[in-house]
Amino acid sequence: MTTALHATEGSVAPLFRPATLGPFTRPHRVVMSPMTRSRAAEGNAVTSQTATYYRQRASAALIVTEATQVSPGGVGYPSTPGIHTDAQVEAWRRVVDAVHAEGGVIFLQLWHVGRMSHPMYHGGALPVAPSAIAPLGEVFTAEGMKPFETPRALETDEIASVVAEFRHGAEMAKKAGFDGVEIHGANGYLIDQFLRDGSNRRTDRYGGSIENRLRFPLAVVDAVAAVWGPERVGVRISPLSAFNSMDDSHPAELFGAFARELGERSLAYLHIVTDDGFSDDRSFDVLSLGEAFEGAVIAAGGFDAQSATEVVESGRADFVAFGRAFLANPDLPARLARGAELNAPDPSTFYGGGEEGYTDYPTLTG
Ligand SMILES: Cc1cc2nc3c(=O)[nH]c(=O)nc-3n(C[C@H](O)[C@H](O)[C@H](O)COP(=O)(O)O)c2cc1C
Repeated sequence: MTTALHATEGSVAPLFRPATLGPFTRPHRVVMSPMTRSRAAEGNAVTSQTATYYRQRASAALIVTEATQVSPGGVGYPSTPGIHTDAQVEAWRRVVDAVHAEGGVIFLQLWHVGRMSHPMYHGGALPVAPSAIAPLGEVFTAEGMKPFETPRALETDEIASVVAEFRHGAEMAKKAGFDGVEIHGANGYLIDQFLRDGSNRRTDRYGGSIENRLRFPLAVVDAVAAVWGPERVGVRISPLSAFNSMDDSHPAELFGAFARELGERSLAYLHIVTDDGFSDDRSFDVLSLGEAFEGAVIAAGGFDAQSATEVVESGRADFVAFGRAFLANPDLPARLARGAELNAPDPSTFYGGGEEGYTDYPTLTG
C-alpha cells in the first residue's frame, strides 16, 4: 500500500490525474489502443471470450475496440468482427455490458480496409479504393498469404454509398450500447487512402487538392457525428506512417488541414499515432496537430510509463494509448500506478487462436 501510494504520487502522477473525454470524466489517462485479434466467430461476430477479454481491461480510461468492419465490403483480414448485422450487434452488446458492469468506457473503432483486401473476401470482386493502385506485399487470406491485386477505383457516384456504410455502422454501434465510436483514419485503410496522395490520384472532387482529398474523410466524420453527436466521436490518424504502402508529398500541410477541420467539429478526441514501430519519418511533430484541436488528444505508439508521463506532463497529449502493453497486462493502469513489473506480450498469439494469449495474461492479484 505504501509502495502504491508512493509510486502514484511520484513519477507517474500526471497519468493519474482525472481528465475529460467528451461527456466522460475519467480518473486517469491510460487508454487501451485498438487491437485486431482475429478471433471473431462465424458471421464475423465477437464471442463470449471477447467479452471476457475486454471486461478484464475495463480499468482503462477508455477502451477502443479492435477495428470493426462497417460493411461486408470493408473486410480484409480473417476472423475480424463486423458491425453491420443484427447478430454482430447482439454479440457486441454482450461485450459492452461486460465492460459497463466494471465501470468501463468503450468506443468501437469503425473500419473499412479499402485496398488492403483480396477478391477472396468479396466473392471474387475486386476490393475498392480511391485509385487503382495496389499496395506492395501480400494479404492474409483463409488460404494463406496472397499477393495484393490492383483494387477498383470507386466511381464518383458510389462514394456516398460508402459514407452511408459508415453511418450504418455508427447506428449499429449505438444499438449495441457503445459509449461512442472512433473512426479509423489511420494505418493505410480506406480513409487514410483517400487522404494521402500516394494512394489517391483521383481527378474528381475527391482527389487532387488537399481540400478535395479531405472531402470523403470529412463526409464520414459528419455522417457519424450526426448519429452520435460529435462529443462521442474520435478520429485516429497516423500522419507519418508508411505502413500498408502509404506516403504523402506534404503530410504536415495535409494533416494540419485535416486537424483544423476536425477541430471545428467539437469531436471528443483526436487520436494521433506518433510511432508505428517501423516508419522512421519524423519530418514534422505530429502531436503539434493537437494545437488546432479543441477536444482531447490521445497519443499512441511505443509509449512506456516514463514517456507517457512526460507527454502528458508537457500538455502535448491528454491521454496515452497503450497497445501491446495493454494486450499483455489486463490491469495495466494499476501496474503503472504502482511501478509494477509488466507481463511481456507474446506476438505468436496476437492474431487468431483461443484463450491463450487472449484472456489468460495474469493480473497482479492473480
Ligand atoms: C496485435 C495488434 C493489432 C492492432 N490492431 C489495430 C487496429 O485494429 N486498429 C488500429 O488503429 N491499430 C491497431 N494496432 C496498432 C495499435 O493500436 C498501436 O497503435 C500500436 O501497437 C503501437 O502502440 P504500442 O507500442 O503501445 O503497442 C494494432 C497493434 C497490434 C500489436
